[in-house]
Amino acid sequence: MCKLTLTAGLCLIIASLASSSRLVCYYNSLAENRAEDGRFTVSDIDPNQCTHLIYAFSDINNQHQLVPSSETDIQRYQSFTGLKTRNPLLKTLLAVGGLTFDTTKFRTMVAAQQKRANFILSAITLMRTFGFDGLNLDWRYPRGARSQPRDKQRFTQLCKELKEAFVAEGTATNRDRLIVTASVSAERATIDASYEVAQIATYLDFINVLTFDFHGPWESVTGHHSPLYRGSRDTGDKIYSNTDSAMKYWRDKGAPSQKLNLGLAAYGRVFTLSSAFSNVGAPASGPGKEGHFTGEEGFWASYETCLYVRKSTIHLIPDQRVPYAKTKDQWVGFDNNTSLDIKVSYLKNNNFGGAFVWSLDLDDFNGQFCKQGNYPFISNLHKLLVPDFPGLTTPTPTTTTPTTPTKVSTGNPCDGKSDGVYTNPDDPNSFYNCAGQITYIQKCQPGLIFKQSCKCCDWPTTTTPTKVPTGNPCDGKSDGVYTNPDDPNSFYNCAGQITYIQKCQPGLIFKQSCKCCDWP
Ligand SMILES: *[C@@H]1O[C@H](CO)[C@@H](O)[C@H](O)[C@H]1NC(C)=O
Ligand SMILES: *[C@@H]1O[C@H](CO)[C@@H](O)[C@H](O)[C@H]1NC(C)=O
Repeated sequence: MCKLTLTAGLCLIIASLASSSRLVCYYNSLAENRAEDGRFTVSDIDPNQCTHLIYAFSDINNQHQLVPSSETDIQRYQSFTGLKTRNPLLKTLLAVGGLTFDTTKFRTMVAAQQKRANFILSAITLMRTFGFDGLNLDWRYPRGARSQPRDKQRFTQLCKELKEAFVAEGTATNRDRLIVTASVSAERATIDASYEVAQIATYLDFINVLTFDFHGPWESVTGHHSPLYRGSRDTGDKIYSNTDSAMKYWRDKGAPSQKLNLGLAAYGRVFTLSSAFSNVGAPASGPGKEGHFTGEEGFWASYETCLYVRKSTIHLIPDQRVPYAKTKDQWVGFDNNTSLDIKVSYLKNNNFGGAFVWSLDLDDFNGQFCKQGNYPFISNLHKLLVPDFPGLTTPTPTTTTPTTPTKVSTGNPCDGKSDGVYTNPDDPNSFYNCAGQITYIQKCQPGLIFKQSCKCCDWPTTTTPTKVPTGNPCDGKSDGVYTNPDDPNSFYNCAGQITYIQKCQPGLIFKQSCKCCDWP
């Protein structure tokens, strides 16, 4: 697909740029209970960083129905899915389960067809009522324990029935189908015990592989909780306890690589050292001190790590490609921009579909701790995974100057329309954003128009190339696009050593680095 058709050559370049990856971010509703500056609410979410947001967590009741975890959740659901009015391409999902969830609720629910049907029906109703785009299953883990030997197959059955019901509902109501996703273990033994990988992968739209917590202060020696590669001194089953091994295991067991998201933790795992050694594998006496805001021993949010290791040296674990720091007797393994860059290159080189982050509240969301701007962890991932080519990959209304949607004062163009974005016949530079039959008007970037075909803001027309009358800047150059030193608003397009001059849209300049027209 190529919307900005300049020439075949440039079009290819843009098409490849446009193949953006997923950046899935978890919102942890419990972070609202943290003290002072650690308190995180839905209004702290930036709707333009991640491609998908997941609300963690909802619950399952005695009738096997999907329900909010608390009364206050209902209010928060509305603000959460309402973030889409500020980014029409954003998808919002609802998660059920999690680390501390009572898994007997899952076990009982999947055990009978009627119970699964109750769950599925209630899930559809809850998601449609509050405007979610899909479900995220966080069952940790559907193990084939002796009492319930069929959990593994029943999990597959649940995924299958969810997918089929979502397809049927989408068709019947003429709405975008709800998506179904899961977050799954990265431990080899658990993968073998808990999942029919190839089968669930056919039903799930994407799969978050929890490639962190491989090591932690529950062990007696230091180790990074989210290494990219195996450590040179790992032996036995430890050779599988790393991101690379887990991602490839999921792929090799039959999950398409494009459906797999690599897991990233916006927190560090902390050990208390029990000797003078501080290398990987040094003796540890237990978890490190609790973070001031997160309050859990051995766990520091990335903004807490930033504060505590400010004056320490950051060391690289060369074989595993991740950093750690030591401050007094505290040892913390975490990710910084450099290791995130390496992990993102890794996932792109292996054609994985994207990354997911646990969780938004653990990043320095308002920039006050690390002094590196808002969301330094996630904005680095956004920069690497979600390219901003105006009008092509991101809907531009909100990328640089977010326009606040305004409610229409008279009439209601969204009357009878399902939620989504629509052409505004009175002004091509803006569009209607319909949410619960309320009409909001949003503006595209100056110079762009809204197109229904891509539901995005795009350039109005294509500029026709003109042949240069004199001289030949393309002489000796291979086919491609090149800077025009006389006019930054245009560029040379060389084809068979003939020079064509093409203009960027007004206000844009040609950049050799991306071979594209961009905001100056
Ligand atoms: C991340 O840590 C490594 C290891 O110390 C260091 O070399 C690198 O410069 C750090 N990256 C950033 C962006 O601070
Ligand atoms: C990491 O990258 C983000 C996004 O580019 C930036 O805001 C932040 O300052 C960077 N952090 C460091 C330590 O370089």
